[in-house]
Amino acid sequence: MTQVATHHRELIFSPAIRIFHWLRALSIVVLIATGFYLSWPFLVAPESSDVLVQGWIRFAHIIFGFALTAITIIRFYLFFFSRNSANERRSIKDVLSVKSWIVQIKSYIWMGNLDKAGIYGPLQFVTYVGISFAALFMCITGLVLYANVYHEGFGGLIWDVSAWFTALMGGLAEVRVWHHIMTWAFIIFMVIHVYMAVWSGIRFKHNSVDSIVSGYDYHKDH
Ligand code: HEM
Repeated sequence: MTQVATHHRELIFSPAIRIFHWLRALSIVVLIATGFYLSWPFLVAPESSDVLVQGWIRFAHIIFGFALTAITIIRFYLFFFSRNSANERRSIKDVLSVKSWIVQIKSYIWMGNLDKAGIYGPLQFVTYVGISFAALFMCITGLVLYANVYHEGFGGLIWDVSAWFTALMGGLAEVRVWHHIMTWAFIIFMVIHVYMAVWSGIRFKHNSVDSIVSGYDYHKDH
């Protein structure tokens, strides 16, 4: 019996991109949960001051905060300089093309198929750029909050630049409030992102959620 392959596979996400994607997803989920707890510490234990719930939650927030900061820097670097991210960079072409926007929006309402130069559609790419800058903002404001709690070591090292940034934002209260408000951008993004990932896999009959696990997309052979 002979077997004929009907599809061929293409590596679209390098191992580094996939690993950082899932590490970033984990960090963001932990940061949202621990961050909301920090702002509303409901598990108070007034009778036992040795149960340092707030301290442990803040410790987790800071660990994952530094993880997210490292990932954000590396991810920006990979996007601009990695050879494997050339297919991501090609999406800039689509963002600058009115035709690509129309093609993508039409494909979302079942009018025709996607046709793109890179691996992301223009709307998808612009959303990812937005959430990447939102992550950068969270890292900067998070580090400013950190420097105001820990004055030695790394906190001391970034104190001057943190004071400058705090003044720029109109005070530490503003830094905290914006760090809190922007948390919602991640919640909204995550819900839409997961929905769109599943939906587009079904709509376009391509690997979608699967490709950020395996790295591969599939194309039909003609
Ligand atoms: C997506 C990423 C992040 C989310 C969703 C997030 C969320 C939050 C929230 C909701 C709060 C409570 C603000 C309030 O008091 O109302 C908070 C506090 C804080 N965050 Fe983040 N955060 C993120 C990233 C970071 C990063 C990268 C750092 C840097 C290490 C960081 C450091 C801090 C610190 C030091 C506090 C104050 C803790 C305290 O009051 O004891 N955060 N965060």
